[in-house]
Amino acid sequence: MNNLINISNDLFVNTYTRHPAVMVEGEGCRLKDAKGNEYLDFVAGIATCSLGHCHPVVTDAICSQAKKLVHTSNLFHSLPQIELAGMLVDHSFADKIFMANSGAEANEAAIKLARKHGGTGCFEIITLEGSFHGRTLATVAATGQRKFHRGFEPLPVGFYHAPFGDLAALEKLITNKTCAIMVEPLQGEGGVRPLEKEYLQGIRTLCDKHSILLILDEIQVGMSRTGTLFAHEQYNIRPDILTCAKALGNGMPIGALLTTNKVAASFQPGDHASTFGGNPVACAAAVAVLKTMTSNGFLEGVVQRGHHLHDCLKSIADQYNRICRGVRGRGLIQGLVLDDSIADRGGEIVSTLFKAGVLVTLAGGKVLRCTPPLIVSMEEIDAMAAVLEEVISNI
Ligand SMILES: Cc1ncc(COP(=O)(O)O)c(C=O)c1O
Repeated sequence: MNNLINISNDLFVNTYTRHPAVMVEGEGCRLKDAKGNEYLDFVAGIATCSLGHCHPVVTDAICSQAKKLVHTSNLFHSLPQIELAGMLVDHSFADKIFMANSGAEANEAAIKLARKHGGTGCFEIITLEGSFHGRTLATVAATGQRKFHRGFEPLPVGFYHAPFGDLAALEKLITNKTCAIMVEPLQGEGGVRPLEKEYLQGIRTLCDKHSILLILDEIQVGMSRTGTLFAHEQYNIRPDILTCAKALGNGMPIGALLTTNKVAASFQPGDHASTFGGNPVACAAAVAVLKTMTSNGFLEGVVQRGHHLHDCLKSIADQYNRICRGVRGRGLIQGLVLDDSIADRGGEIVSTLFKAGVLVTLAGGKVLRCTPPLIVSMEEIDAMAAVLEEVISNI
């Protein structure tokens, strides 16, 4: 396997820090590498394989669509697209859908739609410090973390970042050029930071007061991750635009923009497009995902297991409070916050866990983020927590 890893390192542009494993198989919450090592996967392709690896219903949907029709472009309608768009509308605030291939592309579409809706001269978008919205130039500019900007300036203009949690500071950034505020209901990459209910409701109120759009980026936390199909349902608010991706296709590349009739009317034929967006195979996978996630008892299971994951992490945080600051998250996105004194050892902890067969990610520099498949069992959560406790106890 080392040979394969060397070949891979030689072949690729050096943009990723990867674990030394060539993953070859997955089933449920387990991954297997080319050496035969097994891993308990609390990454799930970064909150993407939410029904677990190779979920049979999704795999069947992919295979059967691949035998019928793989691609047509958006010059034509396609059956899986129509079915998926109908389901997204039925299960959300939205009237209209635009389909993309990824989260960043869904956000690009949202940014363009908000600017078009704002009209000439009304192009500014406010996001939050600590946010993450993607890796294209516009979504990098939208992202409220300097480290993602460095080396890529000049960035597209018109993006402003408000301090997290400060509604008054956010309002001060609104001008007559502002067309939208874009936020994640829970910042994933920013370190598993949920927005308080009153805060997000306050942002909605600000948008109404200043007649600007609220864009919710639910790319990481939508699709049942927090215990409701969309995270904002827990806030009793509605966005004007919502973006989702990641878990929508359970690993097939797909993103979607959801919006209202009123906002959608700002886009006319030719304003935006994507060759692969809404690809029939990806849509067939997403239909299977949505059917499974909206079936009886699915979300209740996510909530229950989310509580259990939270409790397991909390008990580790309490026991090792010298090095753990606490636990935060919702549903099955939970983060163990490391104390500043060992924050620089986060990467080492993630590597040690990897060697012990447990996969987690580091978010916001010092948060061990757990995003297991939503079908994770209580026993798998216990098994992960036992390994994590062992690793933390040795720090
Ligand atoms: C909140 C959020 N927005 C956007 C993106 C970008 O999605 P993608 O990597 O599919 O372009 C991510 C990816 O991590 C994300 O977490």
